[in-house]
Amino acid sequence: MERKRILTGDRPTGKLHLGHYVGSLQNRVRLQDDYDCFFIIADLHTLTTKPEKEHIEALPDNVRSAALDYLSVGIDPARSVIYLQSAVPEVIELSLYFQNLVTVPRLSRIPSLKEMAQGAGIEEMPFGLLGYPVLQAADILLPRAHLVPVGKDNVAHVEITREIARRFNNLYGETFPVPDVLVSEYGSLVGTDGNAKMSKSLNNAIFLSDDAKTVEKRVMSMYTDPKRVSADIPGTVEGNPVFDYHDAFNPDKAEVEDLKSRYREGKVGDVEVKQKLARSINAFLDPIRERRAKYESQSGLADEVVYEGTMRMREEARTTLNAVRKAMGMSAVWNRISRKAEDARKKREGK
Ligand code: TRP
Repeated sequence: MERKRILTGDRPTGKLHLGHYVGSLQNRVRLQDDYDCFFIIADLHTLTTKPEKEHIEALPDNVRSAALDYLSVGIDPARSVIYLQSAVPEVIELSLYFQNLVTVPRLSRIPSLKEMAQGAGIEEMPFGLLGYPVLQAADILLPRAHLVPVGKDNVAHVEITREIARRFNNLYGETFPVPDVLVSEYGSLVGTDGNAKMSKSLNNAIFLSDDAKTVEKRVMSMYTDPKRVSADIPGTVEGNPVFDYHDAFNPDKAEVEDLKSRYREGKVGDVEVKQKLARSINAFLDPIRERRAKYESQSGLADEVVYEGTMRMREEARTTLNAVRKAMGMSAVWNRISRKAEDARKKREGK
């Protein structure tokens, strides 16, 4: 039996961090065993909030960096497709067809779009940003995916995708699976500052590509229980980012429990807790670093992976768009005109 398909991915805005790992990458690596996976590097989506030339100029490096991050965490290019959205132009055509199957009020009610506009300092909703979930629906349905693993903030976009798939199938005949959403159970990882979620722009991230020294520096300056001005004051473990990270990255559960109870009793210094955390994170990152080094040692290798994946996706896109145009009757429009024109020309020339 054919395996079911997954489509998910990211906008190429820079290096990926530990929050991406626990929230999505980890899951993607696992899902490769049971699904045919398509991972999109969604550069067209970055235009919805960052259309300026300077941002476009940064895309090639950001795309390569995303691909390297994927490969270094263990996404396997022999099994999975990593591809560049803008190099598969069929998605734009599909998105345009989909634009007619959803209403403006429906899109206007999606909170994530307003948040994105606000975050980017945009006052009035651009047409393209309102259409963000419609383009995303085209991404998902282009390879006819069955399952879409995403974070909470993207669930509404997958819901739009399901509505569009149903509406398309109703209007034009069964063409697309109605994809299920798979929400990452982990949610988001808190930042090193303890305040918000880990994010590059908040400067509270530990990147998958950070070296051991950088990780150590970041961990040693992490936010922790502020009431603990000395090691003999009992501290709070709950909601303390240092212990959140221990839970996420330290596989030695006995050590974590020991540190927690000593911390609660005021019998351990922050330095010891943090040193052990830095060691755990570095041990966790080591195999990731090794894989990255392997891919980086051959210049152009990550680019080749994206190239091959994109070629593969183009085949899928052609198949889907042929089916879509046929189902809609769109292919007949030009076919009939051009056939008649050819007949007419032949007749004239033949006489
Ligand atoms: N919207 C995703 C983000 O928040 C990126 C993305 C674009 C995506 N197309 C997708 C995710 C298709 C899942 C499926 O960055």
